[in-house]
Amino acid sequence: MLNYNKFDVDKIREDFPILNREVNGKPLIYFDNAATSQTPKQVIDVIVDYYSNYNANIHRGVHTLSQEATDLYEQARLKIQKHFNAKFNHEIILTSGTTHSINLIANGFSTLLGEKDEVLVSALEHHSNIVPWQMLCERTGATLKVIPMNENGELIMSAYEALLSEHTKLVFVNHISNALGTINPIAEMIKKAHQVGAAVLIDGAQSCPHVQPDVQALDVDFYVASAHKMCGPTGIGLLYGKEEWLNKLPPYQGGGEMIDEVTFEKTTYAGLPHKFEAGTPNICGGIAFGTAVDYMTAIGFDAIATYEHELLEYATDKLLQIEGLKIYGTAKEKTSVISFNIEGIHPYDIGTILDKMGIAVRTGHHCAQPIMDFYKIPGTIRASFAFYNTKAEIDALVEGVKKAKMMLL
Ligand code: ALA
Repeated sequence: MLNYNKFDVDKIREDFPILNREVNGKPLIYFDNAATSQTPKQVIDVIVDYYSNYNANIHRGVHTLSQEATDLYEQARLKIQKHFNAKFNHEIILTSGTTHSINLIANGFSTLLGEKDEVLVSALEHHSNIVPWQMLCERTGATLKVIPMNENGELIMSAYEALLSEHTKLVFVNHISNALGTINPIAEMIKKAHQVGAAVLIDGAQSCPHVQPDVQALDVDFYVASAHKMCGPTGIGLLYGKEEWLNKLPPYQGGGEMIDEVTFEKTTYAGLPHKFEAGTPNICGGIAFGTAVDYMTAIGFDAIATYEHELLEYATDKLLQIEGLKIYGTAKEKTSVISFNIEGIHPYDIGTILDKMGIAVRTGHHCAQPIMDFYKIPGTIRASFAFYNTKAEIDALVEGVKKAKMMLL
């Protein structure tokens, strides 16, 4: 693994082969990192190495290949445990990603909630942290309540406190909003929820590329994330759960690997983490997730945060100089995501023209329709920056938006 003593963006960019490609005859400028991050060659090499040398099913065979693959997979779980500072290795459940993790927990809580219970979600959530809870409330008769946000895209803490009561059983909030970049005050929110005896799930899909969460210091009950947002492959992610909660929840899917003993009369289940890991997992993905954690750690999360903040300030300043451009999400604490519109132009049209210039942004509601409804807009153009982006690329974005505006107005 490389040792990055000093943050050097040019050197870092050499790790990402995709950044050398062209799109529509122009060098690719990739600003859709909140949707998925790009993959460094260190992670790509591990994927190639796995399928070239270790491909076998895990936890099953006595043969050498199976044992080697099992060792690599379990080593990755240890790396992930260390990264998130979970107390126990078996508190890390490897899933297909954030959505899978949330659905696993929602399914488990169907047996624990009743009609008098209330669950709180924030107004800033992604659909994946809204819909499973609506389905849970339909099944259990519990009530879903929403922590409101203000015009800057910040949660209103006084309203949150007013919503908490002895009926609150669960609170769901993202660490960082995918659509606006707001960093939520999760430590404070967790503390307040625990004061009324509620459990808290934090959706960390958007925070993991930018910060290193410490689940023990946060005292959070569940923390979920996806590898592909933090330089790993798609189709793999994690559910961290406190041991006591994971023991309380029933299994999600039945199948091989999650059992202790099976007869036609009765099945007993395996212990953690296997109880929640039915079927053949994404073995290569899990191993590569561990490598992605190593890679980002080598670069350093403090260095990443400092550099990305510089990019955010630079881009915000430059974009705001364009007449008619409005940024949605101006929270005091925010990460390197800028959602914006140009008055009188549909976001999709700008996105399409930017693509012709080789610039990848996301346009639309970003799977967060309630946020768009709040601002009474159909969607935004979202530029989300990663540690391998540069100020020169931001200059190209600003010029691109200006050109698109001239063409469309
Ligand atoms: N949740 C991802 C995004 O915000 C897909 O784009």
